[in-house]
Amino acid sequence: MPSHNYVMPRPTFHFTPQRNWINDPNGLVHHGGLWHLFYQYNPEGPDWGNMSWGHATSTDLQHWSEHPVALPYSDGEQIYSGSIVATQGEPQLTAFYTSAFSNGRQAQSKATSIDGGFTWEQDPHNPVLDRGTNAFRDPKVIRYADADGTDRWVLLAVEAEDRQVLFYSSTDLSNWEYRSSFGPLGPEQDAGQLVWECPDLIPLPVDGDPENLRWVLLISTNAVGEDPDPEGSSMSYLIGDFDGTSFTTESTGLTRLDHGRDFYAGVTFDNAPANEKIMLGWMSNWAYAGDIPSAPWRGAMSLPRRLSLRTIDGFPRLLQRPPEFILEQIAAVPAGRFELAQAAEVVLSGHSLLELHWDPAATGRLSLKLQGDSDASVDIEHSPDTGALRITRHGAAVEAIHAAFPSTSTIAMDAAPVQLLLSLDGPLLELFINDGEATASNLIVLGAGAVTARLDSDLPGCVTVTTFDVPASDNLSALSSARSATTLV
Ligand code: FRU
Repeated sequence: MPSHNYVMPRPTFHFTPQRNWINDPNGLVHHGGLWHLFYQYNPEGPDWGNMSWGHATSTDLQHWSEHPVALPYSDGEQIYSGSIVATQGEPQLTAFYTSAFSNGRQAQSKATSIDGGFTWEQDPHNPVLDRGTNAFRDPKVIRYADADGTDRWVLLAVEAEDRQVLFYSSTDLSNWEYRSSFGPLGPEQDAGQLVWECPDLIPLPVDGDPENLRWVLLISTNAVGEDPDPEGSSMSYLIGDFDGTSFTTESTGLTRLDHGRDFYAGVTFDNAPANEKIMLGWMSNWAYAGDIPSAPWRGAMSLPRRLSLRTIDGFPRLLQRPPEFILEQIAAVPAGRFELAQAAEVVLSGHSLLELHWDPAATGRLSLKLQGDSDASVDIEHSPDTGALRITRHGAAVEAIHAAFPSTSTIAMDAAPVQLLLSLDGPLLELFINDGEATASNLIVLGAGAVTARLDSDLPGCVTVTTFDVPASDNLSALSSARSATTLV
């Protein structure tokens, strides 16, 4: 397929809009048995602009129904990113979003819904939080229970160019009191080169121990300035503590959250069942998001990720893995397993899950090459010598998209990988390594047909391979899974 007119196939088990441009997930909330996904949306075209909140709902986080635009832009005001909280009584849902005014001012506004999130009433006092500045955005509202048992609301938002997160609190979601700010953090040369966006703050038990809670601050960072870093945008996190007023951490720098090029603006659902912290991110990168060759849709959400903290080498680390029920839904048929002792190929439909288990001491260097019907490929390689896992996307179709699109992502693994879950859904490739100790998300351009996965290793050690092909389906009908051909040993 010539690379100049390459068109990405549509994913089947991830959210994409029927038409037009999307970016950040907004207002993620579970309410009335539905997962609500709002998102940055241009109702009128395939490029960023006319920013509004689009809306979709799902009962299972996999099949989505799209609804009319929830919060449309108007003359002089775009609706930028924000969040929703579910409350007891009326209104059921309260949304906070950034009003991006055409005079450059950015301030936080509020809207409420009494019909479960389908229609919204904007507050007549909007904007409800205004500092008179131009990069104050992306409000995320969370609950905080004081030691004396009283609840308060905390709103965090960025001063994007100052690389700061500002904290406010309220007892009624209407009156907000400034509490503290956090940042900037990281190298001095980031000033003017990086903006902070889309913060989130979540309490998580370490190793599942409810007595040992830590707070995780999520931050998306985007390269800006005259000569921006071609790596573009990515997400980071910090583990620390929060006392309802300020966030503190011993970290001196941000920790990368996802090691691929295409995971941004990830935030968690409010009010998820069992208080789970489930995140969705936008699978693109501001460096080239406007050049992604897909139509009539442009932009996709990641698989949902359940966040947890696990102690690794004495320190808590953020783990991200699709919730078990999602994996069971996508891969409904019990997995078959094959053992490989030599180089082998498996043909995947291109909408597939593939899981590998191996012992690097037995296999030595392990490589997995993904190739479809385009002139591009993805190489994944683990080298026990360097301890690193590398993901490279390359080829003419990759180069044709944008100068910044060819990429190599290197993940320095603390422990040797022994398990790799690969989710491939058309142009979306997500890797979850060692049960989510590390992740890497990338847009890829392997074509619309079958994808051959070729496995090779330096030594004849054993690799256990499990594959699932998710049958093509429109996103609204039930999917069932089938095991792929088993002629592998
Ligand atoms: C992040 C972001 C946000 C902003 C929105 C505008 O991707 O730049 O900071 O609210 O997108 O669409």
